[in-house]
Amino acid sequence: MSYPYQIKSFEEYQQAYKRSVQDPEGFWGDVAENFTWRKKWDKVLEWNFKEPKVEWFKGGKLNITENCIDRHLETMGEKPAIIWEPNNPEERTRTVTYNRLHKRVCQVAQMLKNNGVKKGDRVCIYMGMVPELAYAILGCARIGAIHSVIFGGFSAQSIADRLEDANAEFIITCDGAYRGEKVIPLKNVIDDALIGNKTVKKVIVYTRTRTPVSMIKGRDIWWEDEMEFAEHQVEKEGKVFFEAEAMDAEDPLFILYTSGSTGKPKGVVHSSGGYMVWTNYTFVNVFQYQQGQIHFCTADIGWITGHSYIVYGPLSAGGTSLMFEGIPTYPSCSRFFDIVDKYKVNILYTAPTAIRSLIGFGDEPYKNNDLSSLQILGTVGEPINEEAWHWYDEHIGKKKCPIVDTWWQTETGGVLISNLAGITPAKPSWATLPLPGVQPILVDEKGEAITKKDEQGLLKGNLCIKAPWPSILRTTYGDHERCRTNYFATYENLYFTSDGALKDENGFYRITGRVDDVLNVSGHRIGTAEVENAINMHAGVVESAVVGYPHDIKGQGIYAYVIIDGKHAADDEQTRKNILQTVTRVIGPIAKPDKIQFVKGLPKTRSGKIMRRILRKIAEGETQNLGDTTTLLDPNVVDEIKNGKL
Ligand code: WT7
Repeated sequence: MSYPYQIKSFEEYQQAYKRSVQDPEGFWGDVAENFTWRKKWDKVLEWNFKEPKVEWFKGGKLNITENCIDRHLETMGEKPAIIWEPNNPEERTRTVTYNRLHKRVCQVAQMLKNNGVKKGDRVCIYMGMVPELAYAILGCARIGAIHSVIFGGFSAQSIADRLEDANAEFIITCDGAYRGEKVIPLKNVIDDALIGNKTVKKVIVYTRTRTPVSMIKGRDIWWEDEMEFAEHQVEKEGKVFFEAEAMDAEDPLFILYTSGSTGKPKGVVHSSGGYMVWTNYTFVNVFQYQQGQIHFCTADIGWITGHSYIVYGPLSAGGTSLMFEGIPTYPSCSRFFDIVDKYKVNILYTAPTAIRSLIGFGDEPYKNNDLSSLQILGTVGEPINEEAWHWYDEHIGKKKCPIVDTWWQTETGGVLISNLAGITPAKPSWATLPLPGVQPILVDEKGEAITKKDEQGLLKGNLCIKAPWPSILRTTYGDHERCRTNYFATYENLYFTSDGALKDENGFYRITGRVDDVLNVSGHRIGTAEVENAINMHAGVVESAVVGYPHDIKGQGIYAYVIIDGKHAADDEQTRKNILQTVTRVIGPIAKPDKIQFVKGLPKTRSGKIMRRILRKIAEGETQNLGDTTTLLDPNVVDEIKNGKL
């Protein structure tokens, strides 16, 4: 497979960028020609950010699994599509060829059909990182069902909320999942999530850990039995066949829940056609993927990074994607690099938080790693500090691998701002230049473009995008108005990212972090309002306020200020543990506060609004310049909070 749209020089980048802005329809129409369509589109692009309405390749018909699998079978059927490394390095690994992937995906599609799943139905997937998770996703896509993957670190309550929001009738899960030394009982969590649920009809359970599960008659069925049955149906005269559903380019492909500034996560909806084109285009260009290379993205498929750069991007490019079940520190902190050596990985794509935590073990543990197969490194999820960037460059890339710092979001579907590996220049801790089709603009609070440079000669403002790229979110599931107010109403005719950014004299961007009430903890996105809601559910809590603070490894830590009623305050340690337990129950262990400070009052304005700015400063360790506190209802609370800082 060749990629005629792969940019090979800085000049080509500039030309591509220019054309993508001047003639987006011509540009993306040409790129889209390189895919398999059942029917060509009538119109490349139609849009307005007012409603918002964005339609790419309208009238076009396709199935993304034909692009990710079928079209590769003739020439690459026996090439590895997915290489799977288990949690325990002693266990047998698995290599899934494109032929095998095709068969399994057809079987899943048939299995879903046998169980009544139809085009447009929502299928919730709650599994560990096993190849069957990829089969499940692609099996849904093959029949046009909308998958909604939920990360294994979310609690039963979180799952219940998402099931309800998505009105899901089907679940695919595992008995359990291995994570380092731990076994997570996924099916048991699903059982808790289903207490009181009235919409879910079927739960398909894949056996991974042999964790005891309770299978409910009429509702719960085994993956293995169903797949065996489906196998006979999809095999005819030695050939495997399951007709893929012809989807409209604008039909939804999946929903992925993500946090915002309210207490309730939103279901970001991605389309079939635009998402396919963008994940493929960015995979091929950002990582400069070459046929035969092994691409190792360390993310979990429960997050957008896994969707786009473990599954859809690499597979649509006929690539080889390495999927890892475990965690970076098991059985030792060199695990990522042991995997790199074991499979001769060429591209390693990971998160700054992982890099920082590995630096913490010193250089000694990695002395025996060869790493000579590596050609390209990437980071994603949060700003990378210069120290981590240089360590990655020297100790892992041995100064010979370009590093791509890829900025994007769940809502953007794929990378928007990044250097192209070895093609456009890198700058430590800068995401650098926008990809073709991406038109960033920095604006002030009023939405005016920033034109005045600061003392360092940089422009600084809120990052917005002026026009749609093919994989921009289409809506938030079941609530289009929410999509409009969240992303398109802050500034007229702009998509607002909620990130702050700097721009230098070369037009390079540096993303400085969120400007809303969303935290980025170890690359996981968590809303402060969600954590507050969870804390407030604890019986002894009167009120709480949650802010982020700089954390050496996690990037941001969660700092909670909590007011407790008279009955509970006496025993701080126990109350603290109980609050952590409550958060674990309500959201999941990923949202547990790092610090809980008990306070008597919170700094509020006379209208009752919590002044988070002050709380953020105190959590950051600032005691002097807290800004104007005269508008506070009771300025004395600030001293009390300062004195009690953890
Ligand atoms: C937020 C989106 C992108 C997939 C994983 C996270 C932050 C992401 C970078 C980067 C600085 C980054 C932003 C963004 N972010 N990549 N390279 N440099 N910040 O997706 O959970 O939707 O989070 O992650 O703040 O808004 P997400």
